[in-house]
Amino acid sequence: MLYIGVDLGTSSVKLLLMSAEGKIEKIVSREYPISFPKPGWSEQNPYDWYEQSVEGIRELTAECDKSQVAGISFGGQMHGLVALDSEDRVIRPAILWNDGRTGEETEYLNTVIGKDKLSEYTANIAFAGFTAPKILWMKKNEPENFAKITKIMLPKDYLAYRLSGSFCTDLSDASGMLLLDVKNRCWSAEMLKICGITEEQLPKLYESYEVVGTLKPSVAEELGLPQTVKVIAGAGDNAAAAVGTGTVGDGMCNISLGTSGTIFISSRNFRVDEHNALHSFDHADGTYHLMGCMLSAASCNKWWNTDILKTENYKEEQEQITKLGENNVFFLPYLMGERSPHNNPDARAIFFGMSMDTTRADMTQAVLEGVAFGLRDSLEVARKLGIKITRTKICGGGAKSDLWKKIIANVMNLQVDVIESEEGPSLGGAMLAAVGCGEYPDVVSAAEKIVKVTDTVMPEEDLVKKYDEQYAKFVRIYPQVKSLYKPI
Ligand code: XUL
Repeated sequence: MLYIGVDLGTSSVKLLLMSAEGKIEKIVSREYPISFPKPGWSEQNPYDWYEQSVEGIRELTAECDKSQVAGISFGGQMHGLVALDSEDRVIRPAILWNDGRTGEETEYLNTVIGKDKLSEYTANIAFAGFTAPKILWMKKNEPENFAKITKIMLPKDYLAYRLSGSFCTDLSDASGMLLLDVKNRCWSAEMLKICGITEEQLPKLYESYEVVGTLKPSVAEELGLPQTVKVIAGAGDNAAAAVGTGTVGDGMCNISLGTSGTIFISSRNFRVDEHNALHSFDHADGTYHLMGCMLSAASCNKWWNTDILKTENYKEEQEQITKLGENNVFFLPYLMGERSPHNNPDARAIFFGMSMDTTRADMTQAVLEGVAFGLRDSLEVARKLGIKITRTKICGGGAKSDLWKKIIANVMNLQVDVIESEEGPSLGGAMLAAVGCGEYPDVVSAAEKIVKVTDTVMPEEDLVKKYDEQYAKFVRIYPQVKSLYKPI
């Protein structure tokens, strides 16, 4: 049988076709626009997601025996607010995970409702990108749109709804809404009341590997696929990436270098860090995880190369970098504000420390290092919790760069396991589909069979020491400039 994994990302949708044994048969990807209508705002049109996904599925399955396609599932960009009216029309563009407009609502939730209460209800505090503050923003700023809301869903759930007619979400993605009681895996009645919404407006909750329905007859016909194709709930892109890199079970770590940068730690038991600096979410394998999220990771490198240096040849830029651990230039990677650990939508990026002998390569290096230092910020929180992490998997577009992997291994002092394929969320989606269709008994067994580590990047003692010193300087920069950003 064949399984389709759909990674509904921020810049594109990636689709992957996997055999029952876990062999990747084909990958296709399709881009769609993102708009930044005001500074710090970030929106997309859900119709674009659906159209490009449908086109992508057609292209993906063009040469295969379509009768063999058994299931489809998803990894999706998290936290985005998709609101539909009573006719299933999208009410307004989706407000994305990296949108920073909800400073006031986030502040209200964290101070008036209070972080303790939020943590008690949901295991998390409010961050600007989470869904609940966006609902409050819409209620206050677009009351006529708020009044029309019949269904609230997350980006990948819009695809599942259009494909199957099932109004559903999964627990890993729902965790990022600040509406879910993460520990007990159900909606929080208190949070629904705070946001002025009812459970009827929210999707039905599923585990990521559960079947939510089959293709609608009209959709099956449009795609040329059997109506028996099962649609499986899927996961938030980070949980899906964790499945795709075998970060399941207890105490495993995955770093994702996509538009965002995340560090994901799987945990058999529910846990929360004292200050809620890390997100405490449900995992796609039925357990839990902790996660730190940077809003701009590979997107910093893309911005620097494409928009500023005007080159698409990232490799050539990186080949000029020779002096690891000795850079005088630092980069604070806060192009879209920052989530973990600063929770500051108004933070912005900074280059620091240039002199007349600074080169283009030094600045490119600073961008790569700045992202690694930002990820280390979250790792340090986990280390303070007593979690011992010595190795990690890695995935996402940034993981294609050997130099970046080396920088990460040494900045974070972690052994970095490289997987046969860095296609985290789309592979994870296909694996969840295979589990949902009964090809594997559970997610952990699927990961054991399918995911293969092909190489390990080892940290080097001297370089780790140099980067320790550099990191000590990096962490001192943000507090010095914090007051210059608009106060939140
Ligand atoms: C995670 C997060 C991002 C998005 C990116 O909390 O906001 O990683 O899921 O798609």
